[in-house]
Amino acid sequence: RVTAAVLAGGVGARMGGPRPKQLMRLAGRTILEHSVATFCASPDVDEVIVLMVADHLAEAEKIVAEGGHSKVSLVAAGGASRTETSWAALRALADRDGGDLVLLHDAVRPLVGRRTIAACVAALRESGAVGAAVPSSDTVVLAGPGRDGSEAIQSVPGRASLRRMQTPQGFRLDVIRRAYERALADPGLVATDDCGVVLRYLPEEEVRLVPGEEDNIKVTHPGDIAVAEALLRVREEAR
Ligand code: CTP
Repeated sequence: RVTAAVLAGGVGARMGGPRPKQLMRLAGRTILEHSVATFCASPDVDEVIVLMVADHLAEAEKIVAEGGHSKVSLVAAGGASRTETSWAALRALADRDGGDLVLLHDAVRPLVGRRTIAACVAALRESGAVGAAVPSSDTVVLAGPGRDGSEAIQSVPGRASLRRMQTPQGFRLDVIRRAYERALADPGLVATDDCGVVLRYLPEEEVRLVPGEEDNIKVTHPGDIAVAEALLRVREEAR
């Protein structure tokens, strides 16, 4: 059984609006609804759960009910950090079999494609942890302290082997549960994505990569809404 958990527990500080960015509209629908609708429409997904910032739970429930997204079985509160929201999703699936699959997705990636979802689920037949990733077109450098307190390049990792991680990231439930149990016991835990938690806390587990999509952007800064709208138009024209 495959459950998609749409993580919408963030407040969107970098976007800076009065409401969380997942409630902003893109081509007539909220960003949250775009994400939920794509997972509900995917033949690879059986069930969808939504973890929403607690102050806006009622709005998420309304979006799900009015949109008729019948695969959604639960709308619940997220946590204070993304890690805590992922953990809240795993707790909501506590009664599930360890062999079941879960896809963790950033709600603010409204352009996630069914092809990427299918690729993640297919890779989970071979591996307990997978993530969607795309090559980097920019050179990425490791920065660190320079002279006089300024910042300087420490090293330049070869671009050909660099990837930018996206979501969905998918896991066998027993794998991601074990990784999070160890992570939450670590007082020094710092994590920005779930594949990173498995890599760090279950080093014996291979974390496989599947090709993501260049347009599956994370709406983060104010200009990203216009970019996402343009990408959505391009995608619809290509259909
Ligand atoms: N997220 C979450 N729970 C949190 C923080 C983040 O579920 N406590 C989710 C966001 O809602 C988003 C995804 O994780 O779908 C990616 O996070 P990010 O883009 O960093 O979102 P925010 O935390 O909302 O943004 P900011 O860091 O600018 O505050």
